[in-house]
Amino acid sequence: MSNDNTAARSFTKVLEILEEHDFDEHRIVSILQAVQAEYRYLPQEVLTFVATSLKVSPARLYGVATFYSHFSLEPKGKHIIKMCDGTACHVRGSKAVIDAVREKLGLSETKITTNDLMFTFETVACLGACGLAPVMVIDEEVHGMMTPEEAIKLIDAIMESENA
Ligand code: FES
Repeated sequence: MSNDNTAARSFTKVLEILEEHDFDEHRIVSILQAVQAEYRYLPQEVLTFVATSLKVSPARLYGVATFYSHFSLEPKGKHIIKMCDGTACHVRGSKAVIDAVREKLGLSETKITTNDLMFTFETVACLGACGLAPVMVIDEEVHGMMTPEEAIKLIDAIMESENA
């Protein structure tokens, strides 16, 4: 795979996004949302390119990107797993699930994405589904009454389908 080609493709797509938004700096948030939807995060070189194209300072763009918590400046995995560690889920055993998932994926509190960019595992505050505690969300799908065994089974199933 050629990195140059990847970079060229990246900027072609970013240019399309910018054109769709008329290079309008007032639509920065919407532009960044579209960029993140494309790359799953905001690569630094893309942010620089967007800033230059919009004629805004990189610092301003970076400020917007860091202000909104749904923007990520780090690469994210293809599959996003979120485990609730709110009070209800904590009381009902989320910690054991969190430990099992981290061990399974070789992750930790500070390393949340696997090297192959297949999984990102995050802990989150109450997801508003306490009746199902402990709750895990995999790629937007809610799984209640989670146990370490069930979590590993679900991850194994994803790994199998990715390797199929
Ligand atoms: S505490 Fe986990 S869903 Fe509310």
